[in-house]
Amino acid sequence: MDILYPGTFDPITNGHLDVIERASKIFKKIIVAVAKSYNKKPMFSLELRESFIKESIKDLNNVEVRSFDCLLVDYLKKTGVHNILRSLRVASDFEYELQLALMNRKLDEQCETVFLMPNQNYIFLSSSMIREIAMLGGDIECFVPKPVYDYITRNFKAYK
Ligand code: COA
Repeated sequence: MDILYPGTFDPITNGHLDVIERASKIFKKIIVAVAKSYNKKPMFSLELRESFIKESIKDLNNVEVRSFDCLLVDYLKKTGVHNILRSLRVASDFEYELQLALMNRKLDEQCETVFLMPNQNYIFLSSSMIREIAMLGGDIECFVPKPVYDYITRNFKAYK
């Protein structure tokens, strides 16, 4: 079975990567789909978010990275994949994820959402937290994949 893992990934964290690695052992193919996400006003460009993921998953043979700028269910139809992967970190994720999963299924009844739990070491991680720590020059090395760490420490004023 193939599955699509959508998200803003602004930027990808070790929590996202952990979910991708777990999924790569269960599913035949994983498409990581980076959403343009206008409403979230991402800090990193779509191209950069995609390239961080591509570099981080290069050892996983059954993972592809793509981007989309439309309704998720429309993108699923385009790719021919009907299953969505999302992660549940803590109980408070559940309410929003339930809403998202049920709305997507209402929009396309073929669409099923599968949830995986990341390693407990990453359940407190979020991309916005990483962005804030990075803006203030804190140590993010153990929270993000190396390509993200290298980019941030090379380009952010707080690390100069
Ligand atoms: N490790 C670390 N962080 C994780 C995580 C994990 N395993 N799982 C979730 N998160 C974090 C993300 O980093 C993100 O953090 P942030 O808000 O601090 O940046 C947050 O949890 C999840 O954000 P959320 O907005 O719930 O999801 P998203 O940005 O990852 O993706 C889309 C949302 C793109 C899937 C959704 O908006 C979408 O489908 N958009 C397309 C348009 C559409 O179809 N809309 C209708 C949907 S019904």
